[in-house]
Amino acid sequence: MIKFQNISKSYGHSIVLDDISFEIKQGEFVVLIGPSGCGKTTTLKTINRLIEPNKGKIFINGKDITKVNPVELRRTIGYVIQQIGLFPNMTVEQNIAVVPKLLKYPKPKWQEIVHNLLELVDMPYEEFAHKYPSELSGGQQQRIGVLRALAASPPIVLMDEPFGALDPITRDSLQEEVKHLQKKLKKTIVFVTHDMEEALRMADTIVFMNRGKIIQMASPEELLQNPADPIIKSFMGRHMENENNAPKLLAEDFMRTKVLKVPKTSHTLECIELMSRRDVNSLIVLNDDDTYAGTVTIEAIKAHGKAGREISELLSEDAVTIHRKEDARQAFDKLLASSSNYVIVLNDNRTVAGLITRTSMAKALGEALWGEMKS
Ligand SMILES: Nc1ncnc2c1ncn2[C@@H]1O[C@H](COP(=O)(O)OP(=O)(O)OP(=O)(O)O)[C@@H](O)[C@H]1O
Ligand SMILES: [Mg+2]
Repeated sequence: MIKFQNISKSYGHSIVLDDISFEIKQGEFVVLIGPSGCGKTTTLKTINRLIEPNKGKIFINGKDITKVNPVELRRTIGYVIQQIGLFPNMTVEQNIAVVPKLLKYPKPKWQEIVHNLLELVDMPYEEFAHKYPSELSGGQQQRIGVLRALAASPPIVLMDEPFGALDPITRDSLQEEVKHLQKKLKKTIVFVTHDMEEALRMADTIVFMNRGKIIQMASPEELLQNPADPIIKSFMGRHMENENNAPKLLAEDFMRTKVLKVPKTSHTLECIELMSRRDVNSLIVLNDDDTYAGTVTIEAIKAHGKAGREISELLSEDAVTIHRKEDARQAFDKLLASSSNYVIVLNDNRTVAGLITRTSMAKALGEALWGEMKS
């Protein structure tokens, strides 16, 4: 579908792309990866003609793109970058509808598009359509950036380190969402990253670049098994270690799952009773939908609790939480840095998966080091 034929680009004497040829199939998720300055962004921008090569040709569906008007061309190619640059004085809806409006879609049509897209990423229209970018979290803004690129339903989407600036958890969930959207909407995606884990997770095909050349183009499995060049190995360093030696340990590997949880609507007396029966001095408190609300301690109840009152009044949100897929090391650091005896491990939907306590950590470490421990 997209064919690079002997593409070269230089600025003065510096050669940025050096005779690049490769092909991307329709519906394929291709990830460009390589060291900083190797030419990933330049490659991407030649596809929508933000950069014109000095030599070579690019074909989309057999058509030489220099024969297509650049503005027309860009309508069929969505583009997402790291600093998404939502228009700050436009609402979410107006931001997503920019291209459909340019294309003079009638209002009911673009409204429907906005509605459906927001639904796809679980951001209800009623709640979000009329917010401004400054009222959204970084992850939500990035989602809107992705939706904006999809709004005119382009068959091709280019993404240049779209999640680079996000925290690991938001990044994880957006990776999943984009992969899901791509499958569902059958897009061809060219995605730039310098994060090998992201590449391995997202790609059908990985294109590894160095100094303006393609060093290897292969499936994630193939790249892991037969890296064509030492630089690819070193890029995978961390990941290879995890794959081949010790498996990467996650927070969930160290948690215990038997945890005392009570609904927000519990009364102080029942909580005290439960704490003394189970010999603990705090409880995890859940919202009505079972998501994590906070903790309540025996001290708080003693100090402020009145018999028969709901514990929702005494809730503390100070406890340290961590996502179950986060690196175990992070969990330990958090645990050791906090004055509390535990870290609360959460599932994707913010329900409680378990607890890491100093004891559960030590026990699991022992097992990892010396095999199953007799208890
Ligand atoms: N307008 C320009 N003039 C001169 N040199 C440029 C220009 N644009 C890019 N370059 C050079 O081209 C090379 C490739 O740049 P490019 O942005 O494609 O790298 P990249 O692989 O995307 O890197 P990064 O991972 O840091 O984003 C770099 O050495 C860069 O300095
Ligand atoms: Mg770049």
